[in-house]
Amino acid sequence: MTLTHNPVLCDRFLAHAVVQWQNQFGRHDLPWQNTRDPYRVWLSEIMLQQTQVVTVCDYYLRFLGRFPDVLTLANASLDDVLALWAGLGYYSRARNLHRCAQQVASVYDGHFPQTALQLETLPGIGRSTAAAIASLCFAQRTAILDGNVKRVLTRYLGFAGDLALTPQVRRLWDEATQQLPVEALSINMPRYTQGMMDLGASICSSRQPRCCDCPLASRCVAHKLGKAEQFPVLTRKLKRTAQSLWLLWAQTPDDMIYLTRRPTPGVWAGLYALPMFEDRAALQAALPAKLQQALLDMPVIKHVLTHKDLYLHPVFVLLPSRFKEQLGADWYGPAQRQKLGLPAPVKKLLNPV
Ligand code: ADE
Repeated sequence: MTLTHNPVLCDRFLAHAVVQWQNQFGRHDLPWQNTRDPYRVWLSEIMLQQTQVVTVCDYYLRFLGRFPDVLTLANASLDDVLALWAGLGYYSRARNLHRCAQQVASVYDGHFPQTALQLETLPGIGRSTAAAIASLCFAQRTAILDGNVKRVLTRYLGFAGDLALTPQVRRLWDEATQQLPVEALSINMPRYTQGMMDLGASICSSRQPRCCDCPLASRCVAHKLGKAEQFPVLTRKLKRTAQSLWLLWAQTPDDMIYLTRRPTPGVWAGLYALPMFEDRAALQAALPAKLQQALLDMPVIKHVLTHKDLYLHPVFVLLPSRFKEQLGADWYGPAQRQKLGLPAPVKKLLNPV
């Protein structure tokens, strides 16, 4: 096979172009860059899985300040970890992060393993995250394939397989592996991985990609067809649902608020929140009879999760201190509330500024 017949497969154009472009135009000063410390890179990759870079930066630095290394994190309590994660969402990430740190401590003597295959056996680390850590920290020649990279690759290759189908995703993993750099891996692998992420995040966006600034445009099949926005092909769409919940905001005159720990599994598992009820009658029934007429309905808050929209109905009651025990023992003052992991909308409701 000559290069001219199948340039996309054979001449490493993509690898060269992405490495060059990342060097010149990619991001170089994010807080988790310029290090090959797998703890820092792992932490950033987990935080970045569902969350934008701008949001992650603050959380990342705060988290590192409190848990500077994997052993400190492994020895911390889950409550402390969740408290620092509160507001980032997708809390299973924080629980897996803690379990992962404990496994690195116990199984690997506090040192992250250096191959993607081993990394992938750890809690919360999927194939793409394992490859990101292994390529960024240890220059392993292994492909990432997150949402951004799927977009770049399917467009470049004109890959029209339906990514709702596992065999097609497998094919794309194989293509991603074919395209990796083959030389000077210790420099090129981290740069290539970062470059693919950067391209997907900046130029090769889902809508209105900036093909005129793209280093791959001259060879990009989707661009040539004028169909960039039609890739990747994904037929199965997420089915969204909606749920309404009533939140009991019971507060005493001396600023104690009643909070309960959310059960696992479920929304906000393990976090502290106002008690939640499926309907208003159930909320009312949880209160002493004398107070049931003193409820104040507050404006509804819409909170968007991956699979569903939550409609939160906060109901406020000023509860004389003598009634406290009738609700339960779990009352928290302002200083204690600061230290708890509260879901973002609850935190915002209780501290509106
Ligand atoms: N998204 C996922 N990983 C990232 C990284 N290392 N840099 C920027 N964005 C990312």
